[in-house]
Amino acid sequence: MQVINEQTNSMIDNLQVVNQILERNGYNPAKLIPILQQIQEEFKYLSKDVISYVANSLNLPASRVYGVATFYAHFSLTPKGKYVFRLCDGTACHVKKSHGILNALYAKLNINAENNTSKDMLFTVETVSCLGACGLAPVMVVNGEVHGQVTPEQAIAIVDELIAAEKAAK
Ligand code: FES
Repeated sequence: MQVINEQTNSMIDNLQVVNQILERNGYNPAKLIPILQQIQEEFKYLSKDVISYVANSLNLPASRVYGVATFYAHFSLTPKGKYVFRLCDGTACHVKKSHGILNALYAKLNINAENNTSKDMLFTVETVSCLGACGLAPVMVVNGEVHGQVTPEQAIAIVDELIAAEKAAK
C-alpha cells in the first residue's frame, strides 16, 4: 500500500511539474518543441503518459506530439538513469581512444550499447558526436558537467564517487 501511495504521490508531483512547464509556455502549441525539451530536462525522457497529457493540454493530436518526439534524436522515449554520461565519439575523441572509456564504463556498470542504463536506474551511458570541445578530447559530459582529457580510470572514479554519494544520501 505504501508503495502505491509513493507512486501516486510521485505521479502527482510529475504532473505538477508538467503543468508548470505548460503554463510557463502559455499552453501554446507553437511551443511544442521547447515544452518537450523542458519536460525532458526534468524527467530525462518523455513517457507515453506525458506525451498524451501534453497533447490533450495543447489540443493537439497525440500522434503529432509523438511524431515530434520521435523525429528529433534529442528526445528519448525510454527512461534514463539519474546520471547520464554522454561520451563523445567524434573524430578527435575517437582518435584519443574514447572507446576505451566507453568499454570501461560498460564493464563497470554491466551495460552495453543496446541496454545502456544500469539496472538500478542510476546510470545511462550514451555516445554522441562532436561536443564542440575537441581541444579537450576525449570529452565526457556527466549531467551537463564537462570532463576533458578523460581516462578510463577517471571515468570509473566518477562512477564510484557518485555511487558513494548515493549511499551516503540514504
Ligand atoms: S570530437 Fe569530441 S569534442 Fe569534438
